[in-house]
Amino acid sequence: MSILQELKTRFAAALEPLTDDVEPLLEMIRASADPKFGDFQANCAMPLGKKAGRPPRDVAADIVERLQLDDFCEPPEVAGPGFINLRLKDDWIAARLAAIAGDDRLGVAPTDKPRHVVVDFSSPNVAKPMHVGHLRSSVIGDAICRTLKFAGHRVTSDNHIGDWGTQFGMIIYGYRHFVNAEQYAADPVSELARLYRLVNQVSDYHSATAKLPTLQSDLEQHQQALANAEAAADPADKKAKKKLKSLRKAVASTEENITSAKKKISSVADDADLQALAAAHPDIARLARLETSKLHAGDADNQKLWDEFLPACLAALDQVYARLDVSFDLTLGESFYNPMLPGVVDSLKEKGLATDSEGATCVFVEGNDAPFIVQKSDGAYTYATTDLATIQYRADELQADEALYVVDARQSEHFNLLFQTAAMWGYDRMTFRHVSFGTVMGKGGKPFKTRSGSNIGLESLIDEAEQRARIVVDENDRERQALNDQQRSDVAKIVGTGGIKYADLHHNRDSDYVFDWDKMLAKSGDTATYMQYAYARICGIFAELNIDRTTFASDRATVLLTQPPERALALQLLQFDQAIDGVLAEYRPNQLTAWLFETAGKFSSFYAHPECSVKGATGELQQSRLVLCDVMARALKTGLSLLGIQTADVM
Ligand code: ARG
Repeated sequence: MSILQELKTRFAAALEPLTDDVEPLLEMIRASADPKFGDFQANCAMPLGKKAGRPPRDVAADIVERLQLDDFCEPPEVAGPGFINLRLKDDWIAARLAAIAGDDRLGVAPTDKPRHVVVDFSSPNVAKPMHVGHLRSSVIGDAICRTLKFAGHRVTSDNHIGDWGTQFGMIIYGYRHFVNAEQYAADPVSELARLYRLVNQVSDYHSATAKLPTLQSDLEQHQQALANAEAAADPADKKAKKKLKSLRKAVASTEENITSAKKKISSVADDADLQALAAAHPDIARLARLETSKLHAGDADNQKLWDEFLPACLAALDQVYARLDVSFDLTLGESFYNPMLPGVVDSLKEKGLATDSEGATCVFVEGNDAPFIVQKSDGAYTYATTDLATIQYRADELQADEALYVVDARQSEHFNLLFQTAAMWGYDRMTFRHVSFGTVMGKGGKPFKTRSGSNIGLESLIDEAEQRARIVVDENDRERQALNDQQRSDVAKIVGTGGIKYADLHHNRDSDYVFDWDKMLAKSGDTATYMQYAYARICGIFAELNIDRTTFASDRATVLLTQPPERALALQLLQFDQAIDGVLAEYRPNQLTAWLFETAGKFSSFYAHPECSVKGATGELQQSRLVLCDVMARALKTGLSLLGIQTADVM
């Protein structure tokens, strides 16, 4: 039973005779900010009083009279202008806590309305640099899967890898012309990544060289227009000011484009070998695209190369996933849907949803200017077509109730069009949600990049996390010497990856955040490191007292709440279910990190309080305090595990 939910149910019964619209009033029942006002506070008498033209205090008294709460609450108090303050009974809290002692689920019952949820996450484009955005997707998606499963839902995690895109044409072209056979034999994936970057670089060089003169003449025009406008402008005229602003913007953005084009040109022109290579391959971009088309059309040679490249790429990805402790039920890449694409377009046409527009086949979605292109004029299918086929598969074959797409916020327009098209197409019983997230920023305020920019880059990021964590671990164990070298390195692994994950998850996923090593591995504050050490400290208390936590008195537990910090901690621990509900309401893992941090804070106040000593207490009181410690440890372990973060008993 969730305390807040139970309070809402009881309030609903009391409020029903007073209003038709109970829901918004129930939202006004919250945990009190100050224990002076009880544990929970309900402010619903204010709006009700206002509406009925009655003093809110009278309304509050009415509500209180109807409320049936005495099985777990003290008599409610009406305070101030009409607040209803609620305080839970100490006995009830103690009994509830005793009941969940020894329970890793902390008393949270699985849902009685299980759904089948497909979680589409990580989904990098293989053979192309995997960026930290894919790390975010992997970490957030994995936490969501774990939390959904914990709550009793059926989850199918699906890594929708981009294994069919234009990068393959580029690699095939690169492989045919530039492969270093020795490198390829030694480490195929980094050689393929090099080929991808090389073809990209040379294509960019040609297109930048072709575009530069136009950009320069555009700049001159914009500058001229700006000079004219500046000369004519009347400073008092708002319209003129606006025009100047937009002209300045045009100048600045063209300048930026020129700088970027020049950079692309010089990256090749400054290197004699590259320059010669570019001169020998003037048509590289078109020819690489041609290789992609040939692959899609079933060309045997290209298919053979693809069959050779893909397993190596997947194996490299799997290494990263193993280190991150992330796994998938399915890895159905874009290529899997290739055979279904013509059928998708036919079906959309049959239903009158897709129409011809300048040679391309598009779905027009009301309220959106951009069409959803499902087949290009050259016959090629798109990202959109594949995603529609994917929906068809997830609905018809997997029989899913819901699909989540854990993808960068920059793709929100795509998903908006996708979901609307799917609904028109007939997939209106399934729920779709874009679980979007912001960008990882470097300290300099620019998007954070891993050093080499390939999927090896993510590995080096994990390496660095583990190295830095090792310093923290060594430092912590310097005096104690409780760990040998292997143990320290094992602990450094979980601290390192835990640090990266937690740093990501504790931010509101919609916002950008700055990647900061020192902050993420700090031993105090809202970090995994802090929680992991708190967990180990509790294990240490039991070890010192020679008590085996795994068999520790769960059924014999008696809880005594003699001091306010004990009570506050117990009450907090009873609200784990609310944190889980919080995560799943909008798929926000930071709801769980916030609960963990608050709980850890309450534990610290309890543990540091002179009147709450565990080791200093004896008999039933010590037993009770140990129950609090044990439930706390379970809360940390389970909570972190739902975030994909491990713990160690000794650190
Ligand atoms: N491969 C895409 C990218 O890296 C993400 C795919 C997300 N999933 C999907 N069903 N569209 O941008």
